[in-house]
Amino acid sequence: MKKVILTGDRPTGRLHIGHYVGSLRRRVELQNEGDYDKMFVFIADAQALTDNIDNPEKVRQNVIEVALDYLSAGLDPEKVTLFIQSQIPELCELTFYFMDMVSVSRLQRNPTVKTEIQMRGFAGESIPVGFFTYPISQAADITAFHGTIVPAGEDQKPMIEQCCEIVRRFNNIYGETLDEPRILLPQSAVCCRLPGTDGKAKMSKSLGNCIYLSDTPKELKKKVNSMYTDPEHIHIEQPGHLEGNTVFTYLDAFATDEDFQLFLPEYACLDELKAHYTKGGLGDGTCKKFLLNVLNARLEPIRQRRAEFEKDIPAVYEILRKGTEEARNVAADTLADVRRAMKINYFEDADLIAEQAKRFAGK
Ligand code: TRP
Repeated sequence: MKKVILTGDRPTGRLHIGHYVGSLRRRVELQNEGDYDKMFVFIADAQALTDNIDNPEKVRQNVIEVALDYLSAGLDPEKVTLFIQSQIPELCELTFYFMDMVSVSRLQRNPTVKTEIQMRGFAGESIPVGFFTYPISQAADITAFHGTIVPAGEDQKPMIEQCCEIVRRFNNIYGETLDEPRILLPQSAVCCRLPGTDGKAKMSKSLGNCIYLSDTPKELKKKVNSMYTDPEHIHIEQPGHLEGNTVFTYLDAFATDEDFQLFLPEYACLDELKAHYTKGGLGDGTCKKFLLNVLNARLEPIRQRRAEFEKDIPAVYEILRKGTEEARNVAADTLADVRRAMKINYFEDADLIAEQAKRFAGK
């Protein structure tokens, strides 16, 4: 089995540092390690439409934003095939065949779909069919490219499980055709779910608590300075708490010992900083200033690359067009195999035609 890394994002907003530690940073590392046969990263615009049908323009505008975020984070179109989901009609075809292999009750049991239905407040049966069935279409996204490794967050686990079930079902019915993928989760718990700057469980655009990859240094400074810390830590001498302290959570996700040497050499590492904080005598201001330096160090190269790509937007669309063409060829090959396995390749099947001719000749 070949090693095919594949993952995607819904273009419903610019990508933030939660995406970065949760997935983007890892993808760039995987890309640079080069230990794979093929790597695909795509913009899941069709999936984004499944629950944004009242605002398709939002999805359309964010396709280029996400593409810029990918490129500026360091994904290299020479090494990774970047493409747009909706431009691959083979995915719809495969989804349609997969739909015969999944029951309504199985979809209703998908925990991610369950929570998403609640979050979006779809009442009873008003849920759009496309939204309800998106795990099936996601299985097509993965298998059409023979994806075997899917770097994604914990919330995508049920999708990958459901994809594997579909693959097994398909292969059982039609013979070995498709590959079962496995999920590649973030390395640590902090990276799984970075909280918002307000300390709330998740970064989300609607809560206004995101730090975007494309934030300017000024925007970043404002956000870091207003971050949630320890509300009981009022005077510097008081002992501070780390639990739920967003500044320290972000430092867990981003700060390296090298950052200490560069920006805060009084401490060798994060453990020393934490020890001082919890003992008392260390102010939030110092920690925030350090975090700001760390984040700027990570984001500055990303900002610079973004500025370069923004100068030539037609070239970015061209990168996506080329990637999409390449991806479509792969999907078309898979679909040819799928049709052959399903024996619905009637016009290529000379045996079938001869057999039927004989049957009718003998009448
Ligand atoms: N569901 C993913 C998300 O919400 C996006 C996605 C669509 C995806 N198809 C995929 C991720 C296939 C991995 C593999 O972010």
